[in-house]
Amino acid sequence: MLQFINQLPKAELHLHIEGSFEPELMFEIAKRNNIEIKYNSVEEVKEAYKFDCLQDFLDIYYAGAGVLTYERDFYDLTYSYLEKCAEQNVRHTEIMFDPQTHTHRGISFETVINGISKACEEAKKKLGVTSLLIMSYLRHLSEKDAFKTLEQSLPYKHLIKAVGLDSSEMGNPPSKFEKVFAASVKEGYIPVAHAGEEGPAEYIWEALNLLDIKRIDHGNNCFEDDLIEEIVKRDIALTVCPLSNTALQVVDDLKNHPIKKMMAKGLKVTVNSDDPAYFGGQVNQNFIEIQEALDLSKADLYEFAKNSFQYSLLDEDVKREYIEELDAFYLENR
Ligand code: HPA
Ligand code: ZN
Repeated sequence: MLQFINQLPKAELHLHIEGSFEPELMFEIAKRNNIEIKYNSVEEVKEAYKFDCLQDFLDIYYAGAGVLTYERDFYDLTYSYLEKCAEQNVRHTEIMFDPQTHTHRGISFETVINGISKACEEAKKKLGVTSLLIMSYLRHLSEKDAFKTLEQSLPYKHLIKAVGLDSSEMGNPPSKFEKVFAASVKEGYIPVAHAGEEGPAEYIWEALNLLDIKRIDHGNNCFEDDLIEEIVKRDIALTVCPLSNTALQVVDDLKNHPIKKMMAKGLKVTVNSDDPAYFGGQVNQNFIEIQEALDLSKADLYEFAKNSFQYSLLDEDVKREYIEELDAFYLENR
């Protein structure tokens, strides 16, 4: 099973690049930029990664991102994640980045996008991993601030596929961002959003009806009959992140994770890492642990992988090629 998971061709659809920042690289970049960090060792950092809730994590996540200063830092961060993709047979990834986390510290939008996108280009050539970028608005900030970010992104529109919504969910409902999402769609960005991670089903309804999202990030709190019916009708997927859910205590134990229940209701689900440096594993580790906890079959894992390509934001012909590759693998290894 381990080998099956490692070799299974897959896409990752829910990944925050700032959340892929491994402590080893954080120390290296802090050192070369002459920035003090409050931990003395990698072990000490890892010890601090114990969270009671989403906000607990976000405080540490934003502090960690604070050492990223130059284009090279964003490049190294992104390339390092993409190398891990290649090792795990992640053939395609859709990377979220939070411009406001950096522009609020005086780092230019250009520095961030150039570093990230150059790494993606290089990884496509050298590693054969394809990627798309999702610019995520921070929901704890104002809509006005999100509008400013949208404006800053426009010269780089050709590098960005979609817009997302992340950060502190409770008290920051999708309705707060209705106008900026409409403006983003007008500019050609595809809308996705975190919804129902800690927030109620009502926030998922809002994300669907007010933001017209094409994918739901997390969606754990979707269990209302008419909501499930609506998601199935719209044929949109949930990007589920098992180890994130236990790390942030959204789910108390992987054995109680709702992913199987979601599948049984006809929902299209994918498995992702969210913030792998903080939550105990890359995407394959998420596959391994959820498979063990729920005794999932190879057919279940194949379904996750197929959904990951099918519900990616790639063009249909590219999706088809990846799915053919996956099907050939599955035929040989099921
Ligand atoms: N939820 C909300 N915001 C985030 C997350 C998450 O899981 N990870 C990084 N930003
Ligand atoms: Zn997330």
